[in-house]
Amino acid sequence: MKSQILSKLTPGHPWGELLQYYPRVDSTNTLAKQLAADGAPHGTVLVAGCQTGGRGRMGRSFHSPANTGLYFSLILRPSCAPSQLMHLTCAAGVALSQAVEDLTGCQAGLKWINDLVCGGRKVAGILTEMSLNANAMVDYAVVGIGVNCRQQLSDFPVELRDAAGSLRTQTGVEVLPAHLAAALMNRLLETDRLLLTGKADLIAKYRARCITLGKEVSVLRADSLRHGTALGLDDDGGLIVRFTDGSTETVNSGEASVRGLYGYL
Ligand code: BTN
Repeated sequence: MKSQILSKLTPGHPWGELLQYYPRVDSTNTLAKQLAADGAPHGTVLVAGCQTGGRGRMGRSFHSPANTGLYFSLILRPSCAPSQLMHLTCAAGVALSQAVEDLTGCQAGLKWINDLVCGGRKVAGILTEMSLNANAMVDYAVVGIGVNCRQQLSDFPVELRDAAGSLRTQTGVEVLPAHLAAALMNRLLETDRLLLTGKADLIAKYRARCITLGKEVSVLRADSLRHGTALGLDDDGGLIVRFTDGSTETVNSGEASVRGLYGYL
């Protein structure tokens, strides 16, 4: 697996020598956070063959069976305040969508904020996590990405069957997880170079790929479910929603999940 990934990296890729492969882990994000807390450098990449406790946003799990998907985490150590990194999930989404398009030739949209959608089904998700140092600056961030590559629809648990798909079911292209890991590392390196200086450009790219904009949405917060229309994105990637009571608010990724009014999209 590791040599397959390295063979597809752009020559001289600085993260190649920091790549770690694990046949089976609880969660690559959980392990990445442990390694980062122990000092693992910027650009450390973890890839797993399967996860026994894959995690998603809002406390959900991420189904991570062996030999079917890519389970990937990247450790970043940008020198900045957390407020300068609010767009990290959007930036990672752009890189993920580009990598999938590189390998399949098919358009891959982003459902706000962290779902990659091909042909109307979720094929991948992103979980970003951050830790601060004693000066309240970013110590490290972990970008976790899970991609369904080879499943048939009947392979997904029943509760995911309406919304989930794989690159195989949605694009008809057989993508090897190792090749996707390399394409992601190539695209994420470009993204990382723009992360603090090219934020407006990254958000513009996210906006162009975001399939939620202009749609009627349900916004689920801890204590409420409200309906409205997604009007746009703010400079940090927050979703601007006009609710049915006439009020307009920016929804931040940490506090809410957004679905279509009548289902997943
Ligand atoms: C979501 O859909 O809400 C996000 C899913 C993120 C899953 C990936 S798989 C690799 C990394 N390790 C995890 O435990 N989660 C992320």
